[in-house]
Formats: sequence, structure tokens, C-alpha cells
Amino acid sequence: MLPNNTFAGKTILITGGGSGLGKSMGKYFASLGGQLIITGRGLDKLTTTAEEIKSEFGSEVLPIAGDVRKIDDVENVVQKGIEKFGQIDILINNAAGNFISPTERLSHRAFESVIGIVLQGTANYTLTIGKYWIENKIKGVVLNIVVSYAWTGSGYTVPSAAAKAGVLAMTKSLAVEWGHKYGIRHVAIAPGPFPTKGAWDRLFPPSVQKVLDPAVNNPLHRVGEHIELAQLAAYLTSDYAAYINGECITIDGGEWLMGAGMFNKLSAVPEEMWDQLKREIKSKTK
Ligand code: HXC
Repeated sequence: MLPNNTFAGKTILITGGGSGLGKSMGKYFASLGGQLIITGRGLDKLTTTAEEIKSEFGSEVLPIAGDVRKIDDVENVVQKGIEKFGQIDILINNAAGNFISPTERLSHRAFESVIGIVLQGTANYTLTIGKYWIENKIKGVVLNIVVSYAWTGSGYTVPSAAAKAGVLAMTKSLAVEWGHKYGIRHVAIAPGPFPTKGAWDRLFPPSVQKVLDPAVNNPLHRVGEHIELAQLAAYLTSDYAAYINGECITIDGGEWLMGAGMFNKLSAVPEEMWDQLKREIKSKTK
């Protein structure tokens, strides 16, 4: 979709970049000439991913371990990234933590853990890199990965819903505050079901898939493909989207709307039954 050199000379920092959607986005940015800093908790996984991306696209990739919840780790990752590449241009807050559970079964530490990764982790990176951009007059771009239930809420993933709603509010707030003063853009993507091992192990174990198959509960009868999300991420953070600020784009095949519309479940009514329904309705309205 975008020219091959769209991200030439640009450095993109991706949290949770060693696997899942973070890795898929990293590959796509690398294919468009970008150089990457990928971070996460496990150095082995990051190193393997970095080698894979380097050999596939010839791009420079710096893997650095760090926990988004720990500000010392965050500052270390940012500092080492700047030392290596001279500048960081784009921040993708992708790292997430989540699992399904009735809320009353959660300990306060379970809440703290998810909110720490999603909300505090995003704040830690946004603040650290934002201050660096402001000090150096760099008009960077922040992309936050939220989720379609950031505005609807969702039972059984309450810490995640609360944290993602917070990240969405941060996106819109800073789009104005830092956009106005410093030309820093904030954008977000709200993905629906994009299978990754990390998310599926915790959200859709096989017994849950029997009652909640994300492909069945979707107007387009399928889950998302990673490249579809990666293309959107690349567009939104590129200069081609220079006038998009504070916007959150949903990419879910229409899943959340399907759950929201009062009569959407009528898709279950068989075609032949509509003649009978028409007769019934007309007979009442004569
Ligand atoms: C109840 C649980 C639990 C579960 C953990 N806890 N799993 N409680 N049910 N299934 C509790 C623990 O008992 C502990 O509380 C507290 O949570 C912290 O757990 P730890 O394992 O010590 O924490 P930590 O090692 O930091 O792991 C964080 C994590 C884990 C969030 C719990 O799942 C993780 O590392 N996740 C990262 C990857 C991930 O989640 N990916 C999916 C993102 S998907 P106590 O009180 O016992 O100490 C996403 C978008 C979804 O966000 C959209 C899809 C459609």
C-alpha cells in the first residue's frame, strides 16, 4: 500500500515487539525501510525476532529487554535506542496483559498487573519519549493499540477494559495538548479478534471457543489477519496520515457493531421465515 521507503531513516520503538501483533507490525515497518527497537520481558524471544527481521528485510533491529511497568527499564530502553540510532521517531504502545475471569475472583494484584502493563506501561513510555521529543523539538508520533471494548466496556476482562479506556482517553487528551504545543501526533487502533498465542491462550482457551468463537461472532465470518492491522499501523504513523490526530480506528470486521445493534441477532432468522413474519406484521397493522 505504501511506498517501499516510507520509513527510511525512521526509528520505530515497539513495546511487546518480540511476538504477536508487535512482531507483525515490526516486520511490516522493516519492509518499508524502518529501523526498529523492540522491547519486552524476554530477551531470548526478542533476539530471535530481531534476527528473523534482519535476515528477511536487512533492517537494523535493536532488541532490549525491559518491563513496561518499571520506569528504570523504560528509561534504559529509550536511552539505548537513542544511542544506537540517534533518534526515535515513532512509539507504538503495543504491550498488553489480559485474561478472562469473573471480576469478583480477581485479587487486587491481578487488577494491578493488567493496569500496570496497559495503562501505566503506556504512560511510562509516552512520558519518557514525549519529554525527549519536546526537549529535542522532534515531531514524533505515538500509536496506542487499544481494543474495541475500550468504549463499550466488557465483562470478564474488566481490568483490561478499564485500562484500555484510560489509554484511549490519554490518546485524545495528548493529541490536543502535545499536538497544539509541539506538533506531536497521537493515534490509536482498536483491534477486534486478531489471533496471537499470548491473547488466545488467555482469552479463548478451547473450552471457551466452543461458546465464543470470534470468527462466528463476526459479520465477515472471520478473524483478522495480522498484515491488515500492520498496514493500518503503518499508514497512521506515516506522513501520509499527517493530518490525523486523536483518532482511533476500529479494525474488527464490524464485530462490536454486531453486538451493539438491537436487531442484529435477527441474522439467525431463516430466509423462508421472513414471508411468514411479513404476513404477521401486516395483519396487525391493517
Ligand atoms: C485470575 C489471575 C490469572 C487468571 C493471573 N492472575 N492470571 N487471576 N485468573 N487467569 C493473577 C495472579 O494470581 C496474580 O495475583 C496477579 O494476577 C499477577 O499475576 P502474575 O502472573 O504474577 O503477573 P505477571 O507475571 O506480571 O503476568 C501478567 C499477566 C499475564 C497479565 C497476568 O497474563 C501476562 O504476562 N500477560 C502478557 C501477555 C498477554 O496477556 N497478552 C494478551 C493481551 S490481549 P495474586 O493475587 O495471586 O498475586 C489484549 C487485547 C485483547 O490485551 C483483545 C482480543 C479480542
